[in-house]
Amino acid sequence: MRQAGRYMAEYRALRAKHTMLEICKTPELALEVTLQPLRLGMDAAILFADILLPLEPMGASFEFAKGEGPVIHHPVRTRADVDRLRICDPEDGLGYVLDAIRLIRKELDGKTPLIGFAGAPFTIASYMIEGGKSSSYQTTKKMMWSEPELFHDLMSKVSEVVRRFLRAQVAAGAQAVQLFDSWVGSLAVEDYRTYVQPHVAHILSDAMTLGVPVIHFGTGTSTLLEAQRDAGGTVIGVDWRTPLDQAWARVGYDKAVQGNLDPLLLLAPRDVAVERARAVLRTAGGRPGHIFNLGHGIVPETPVDTVKAVIDAVHAGV
Ligand code: CP3
Repeated sequence: MRQAGRYMAEYRALRAKHTMLEICKTPELALEVTLQPLRLGMDAAILFADILLPLEPMGASFEFAKGEGPVIHHPVRTRADVDRLRICDPEDGLGYVLDAIRLIRKELDGKTPLIGFAGAPFTIASYMIEGGKSSSYQTTKKMMWSEPELFHDLMSKVSEVVRRFLRAQVAAGAQAVQLFDSWVGSLAVEDYRTYVQPHVAHILSDAMTLGVPVIHFGTGTSTLLEAQRDAGGTVIGVDWRTPLDQAWARVGYDKAVQGNLDPLLLLAPRDVAVERARAVLRTAGGRPGHIFNLGHGIVPETPVDTVKAVIDAVHAGV
C-alpha cells in the first residue's frame, strides 16, 4: 500500500518545495521519498510514483489539484477521445519511473526489496472517464453498458500500456509488482467477469512470467475475490471487510494473501491498533504466504508512532 506520504513530516517538508508530479518525475526526489518510511522498519520499499502517471504519455493530461485529488483535463468519453489515446512504450514518456527504479535499487543495495506498481485498467479508466475521483462511477458504468465496444477499446489500450509498464519496471529492477484495482469493488461480479477480468488477465498472465511475485490488489472486493484470483496474481490483496482466513480459503492456499488491517485503526489508541494487528496475524494462522499490510492506503492524519508500533508488533509475532 501507500507507505510514504503526508503523515510523515519529512514528506510534507519536501512537498512544500515541490509538486507531487515534480517528485515523481525527478528520480533523486522519488528516491528520497521512497526511502523515507523505511526508517519505520517496513520489510519492503514501494516505489514512489502514482498509478495515473501513464495518462500523460497516453495523451490524457492531468494534475493533482490541491484538496481535490486528480483532475483529468479532458475526460475520455467519446469514440474520438478513445481513438486519440496512444499506446505508448514505457521508455517513451515514463522513462523517469524506470530511472527512479534503477537509482533506488542501487541505493537499497540488496538490503530491502523494491516493489513496483501500476494501476489496473478499470481503476485507471474510471479516472479517465469520470475526470477525477467519483463516489458512484456512474459515467464509467454508463459507458460500460451502453457503449461496450468503446469501453472495451479504452480498457484494451490502458491494459496494453500497463502490461508493458510492469514488464519494464521488472527489467529496471523491481523485485515484485503490485496491480492496484482500488475501485473495482464498485462492480457486480457478473460485470467484473464480463467487462474487466479479461483485461486484467491480459496484464497479469504476462506479469506472472517475469519471475517476481505479482500482487493483485483491490478494495471492497469481498464478492470478487474468486474472480480476481482467476484474473491472475501470485498474491491476492484482501481488505479489512473480509476476514483474512475466509478470504484465503476462498482464493485457495496455493495463492499468497496480503492484508488486512483497516488503515483507520492507525488512528485508534496505540494499544488497540497493535492488538488488532496481532489479531490479523492470528487469523492468518501462521500459514506461510501471508504479507501483513493495511487493507488500503495510510491517511495523512496517521500518527507515525502508531505505524512504528504496529510494524514492531508484526515483527514480534503473535
Ligand atoms: O509509498 C507510497 O506512497 C507509494 C506511492 C503511491 C502513491 N500513489 C503516491 C501518492 C502509490 C502506490 C499510489 C497508488 C495510487 N494512486 C492508487 C492506488 C492505491 C490506493 O490508494 O487506492 C490510487 C487510486 C492513486 C490515485 C491518486 N493519487 C489519488 C486518488 C490521489 C489523491 C489522494 C489524496 O489523498 O489526496 C493521489 C495523490 C498521491 N499519490 C499522494 C501520494 C503520496 C498524495 C500526494 C500529495 O498531495 O502529496
